Amino acid sequence: METKVKILDINNIDYEIIKEAALVIKNGGLVVFPTETVYGLGADATNEKAVNNIFKAKGRPQDNPLIVHVGSFDMIPSLVKEIPPAAKKIMDRFFPGPITVIMEKSDLVPKVTSAGLSTVGIRMPENIIARELIRKAGVPVAAPSANTSGLPSPTEVKRCVEDLDGRVDYILGGGKCDYGLESTVIDCSVYPPVILRPGRVTLEELREIDKSIYIDSGLTAGNERPKAPGMKYKHYAPKAKVKIIQGSMQKTVEKINEIVQNYRDDKSKVGIMATDETKDLYKQGRVISLGSRNDEETIGSNLFETLRTLDDLKVDLILSESFEESGIGIAIMNRLKKSAGFDIIKAD
Ligand code: TXA
Ligand code: MG
Repeated sequence: METKVKILDINNIDYEIIKEAALVIKNGGLVVFPTETVYGLGADATNEKAVNNIFKAKGRPQDNPLIVHVGSFDMIPSLVKEIPPAAKKIMDRFFPGPITVIMEKSDLVPKVTSAGLSTVGIRMPENIIARELIRKAGVPVAAPSANTSGLPSPTEVKRCVEDLDGRVDYILGGGKCDYGLESTVIDCSVYPPVILRPGRVTLEELREIDKSIYIDSGLTAGNERPKAPGMKYKHYAPKAKVKIIQGSMQKTVEKINEIVQNYRDDKSKVGIMATDETKDLYKQGRVISLGSRNDEETIGSNLFETLRTLDDLKVDLILSESFEESGIGIAIMNRLKKSAGFDIIKAD
């Protein structure tokens, strides 16, 4: 398949190109597009054949449901059976934005899209290219992250090209994704609503709407079975082995230096995910800073791309510092732990 690649300037959008890509979706094709979280691989959510092609292009397991993206509020009622009060409040407050709200689905959502579940996750992206694309297509758009299943999600269009060139009809570029972590997934088909995937919209923010909202406990341990089917698979994993070092900053630096020191002959085969505060304290290995510890938003936005950059550098081991599990840190550590297969080394 010939893949058309077009890069848009977010400050000077060529709407004719969006129109062309929207027509591809309308006609049952696959289009990669930017969102504020990560790049998505979209198709008409109501077209079974098109949705099936998403699973094929990504190599995604069939039992993992897709999020359905809408361009405006009026698209939502036809996709769900009812809008529970908590869901309404959450959508009023956070749509458009980096959150997905799960509700009981209507018959308009085919089985393949929801992977046989009775529910559907609805998200309204804030990214203007994404929203225009959906509006112009005039259909709800099913879209998982635009990566080969299992790899870190793409936050730069070049990663989508690496993974999906020749496997999709159209790749629409639009710069680096602002947030870099996938949307918060909250299940509102039950009460109290439960967070199945932590993200940029934090537990603290959601509790301002309803104090009874909590995070699914299956997310914190590696062995329990999480409710979002996608969370059970190997995920966000680069080719290199990832290990997380946990402890005080000083002990963490000491431990990482010790591991690198004892690592074979070729120290350039070890990647280190550091922070601005620590990056100069590592003398060997390929050191990349995720950003300052005072700025978790930046750390979150750089996480996936840094994992992929270290793969480009052909390291075979990645040692990562860890982050406090509060606010956005919960989402950062959730992705990091999964990319490490829960391999955590205590430094103190
Ligand atoms: O930010 C995002 O959400 C990005 C952009 C492209 O919008 N999309 C994304 O999709 O991350 P995906 O397919 O890579 O991850 C969707 C997650 C999976 O873990 C899936 O199992 C879960 O959401 N999910 C989707 N629908 C669900 C449902 N009805 N019930 C439970 N979990 C669901
Ligand atoms: Mg994904």
